[in-house]
Amino acid sequence: MAGRRILLTGGAGYIGSHTYLALSEAGHAVTILDSFENARRSVVDRLGRITGRPVDVIDADVRDAAALDAAFAQGRFEAVVHFAALKAVSDSVKRPLDYFDVNVGGLTTLLKVMEAHDCRRLVFSSSATVYGVPDETPTPETAEFRAMNPYGQTKIIGEQLLGWLSASDPRWAIGILRYFNPAGAHASTMIGEDPRDIPNNLMPFISKVATGELPKISVFGDDYDTPDGTGVRDYIHVEDLARGHVLSLGKLFESGEGHLVNLGTGRGYSVLEVISAYKRASNRDLAFEIAPRRPGDVPIYVASAEKAAEVLGFRTEKTLDQMCASSWAWISGEHSGGTD
Ligand code: NAD
Ligand code: WQD
Repeated sequence: MAGRRILLTGGAGYIGSHTYLALSEAGHAVTILDSFENARRSVVDRLGRITGRPVDVIDADVRDAAALDAAFAQGRFEAVVHFAALKAVSDSVKRPLDYFDVNVGGLTTLLKVMEAHDCRRLVFSSSATVYGVPDETPTPETAEFRAMNPYGQTKIIGEQLLGWLSASDPRWAIGILRYFNPAGAHASTMIGEDPRDIPNNLMPFISKVATGELPKISVFGDDYDTPDGTGVRDYIHVEDLARGHVLSLGKLFESGEGHLVNLGTGRGYSVLEVISAYKRASNRDLAFEIAPRRPGDVPIYVASAEKAAEVLGFRTEKTLDQMCASSWAWISGEHSGGTD
């Protein structure tokens, strides 16, 4: 596919920054729009060092219609990949208004500006969380919506809004990608996941125990109906996930039609298996204790990965060991952390 002009909202974040690299490598001209609400500014400089080219960045909020309008007037984008959102489940329970404002309001603002500029191709970051506690594992895309928390509800509303929009005008071509559990870091060791606060998610938490920043891992429950009693998830390497976006965009341009797919590996690992894999990767002894279940947790999330293979030709290439090794290389290397 010929290079396209793409706007990447939230492109300085964890998944967005990896996708920036994958899209640039595929020959696209990419502009990042980010408010740096949850990203370090040094990421931009690093993306430039990895690609060897200056990075086009707009420092703006996705709810700011005037800033988006100016960006479109200047960039004449042919498609948008929309990552910008708030994503912490427990935080969403405490401040639902902010989550609806950014995740739903930001999406609506973006879509209106896109329409005004005649740009109707969009890739949207959705999540396995829209399935709530699914009846079926591996979970197919046909499973019903079940909101478990405000964050999950914002993703369901976002998907529904996009469904109505596509139905209203066939010129829209929208790819909805439901990510399972992204993990790992870029092979350069220059970008990765590095939350400023104590991480909520398993992999970044383990990585900080491995570096000695946190004393031990709490395993949230060992009495689930799973092989070893701990929660099972479908971890997907962030570089595989990033490649999924390149394929999704390619498909939108080629077919002119939208799609809705899970992005996962189709295979699950338990919390104890992830800890063992990280021990192997880091060569560190990782202390853990069994703690009570975390409220609202789902026992098992595993993707049915067949539709993404069929529709996009997407198949994951990287293993859990590679996710842990790249996470460790990043977090123990010279580039992680920082004060910016
Ligand atoms: P992230 O927080 O690292 O990235 C989000 C980016 O959006 C950040 O750079 C942040 O600064 C920016 N942002 C936030 N609010 C903004 C606003 N109002 N205006 C402009 N920029 C704003 O998160 P991530 O893990 O890279 O997630 C990216 C997307 O994928 C999100 O939509 C998230 O909901 C979705 N998702 C993430 C996961 C996961 O486990 N990481 C799983 C499923 C779906
Ligand atoms: C994985 C497993 C925990 C931390 C959440 C959101 C979801 C999504 C990704 C965006 C579970 C266990 C965790 C710890 C543990 N994001 N765990 N000790 O819960 O699948 O998904 O993040 O869309 O919406 O709900 O990911 O990494 O938090 O947990 O034992 O310190 O690890 O109980 O079984 P989860 P996670």
